[in-house]
Amino acid sequence: MLRIAVIIGSTRPGRNGEAVAKWVYEIAQKRGDAKFELVDIKDFNLPLLDEPMSPMMGQYTLQHTKDWSAKIASFDAYVFVTPEYNHAMPAALKNAIDFLYHEWVNKAAGFVSYGGASGIRAVENLRLVMGELQVADVKAQVGLSLFTDFENFSVFKPAPQQEQSVNAMLDQVIAWGGAMKSLRELSAVY
Ligand SMILES: Cc1cc2nc3c(=O)[nH]c(=O)nc-3n(C[C@H](O)[C@H](O)[C@H](O)COP(=O)(O)O)c2cc1C
Repeated sequence: MLRIAVIIGSTRPGRNGEAVAKWVYEIAQKRGDAKFELVDIKDFNLPLLDEPMSPMMGQYTLQHTKDWSAKIASFDAYVFVTPEYNHAMPAALKNAIDFLYHEWVNKAAGFVSYGGASGIRAVENLRLVMGELQVADVKAQVGLSLFTDFENFSVFKPAPQQEQSVNAMLDQVIAWGGAMKSLRELSAVY
């Protein structure tokens, strides 16, 4: 069965990201077609990238990088839960992505975003980065508005139709995650 990480992309105290990611995880848990895990970047205490070699070399010297690498390498696909900070993804998420390279390659990804404009621009920003990492990012995405899916911009109350959007995105992540897994297995043979 595919292993899929639901990654919490924000790290600040009082973040909305935790409630959003838990909601995505709970919806995912009701499905029987993949194994899901909640992954919190915050738990890995990553400083600003401090490895001497490029992650493309895969020669990690620091324990926090080794721990993060082992966690990310263990998945076939990712769901990034991201807010929009100044029309982009949060620096903490970009930094966590930048720490690694081969762990992401030939995997699949989907996005759940939130913000004043539903975090759409953060996802566009993430899609650029996914291209460089050779991650197959799916079209279906979930956009949550601070105005209609939260109370007072801070209490998460998703509109009822959003659960359906999560499942539509997960359908594609699972399909593409399976295809990319086959590709990785083929590349290992040839
Ligand atoms: C540094 C910063 C920049 C932000 N920039 C934007 C923005 O460009 N567009 C937007 O819609 N919301 C923006 N927001 C609002 C956030 O999307 C909103 O506060 C969200 O809850 C932040 O996610 P978090 O609570 O998980 O940290 C910004 C918030 C912060 C803290």
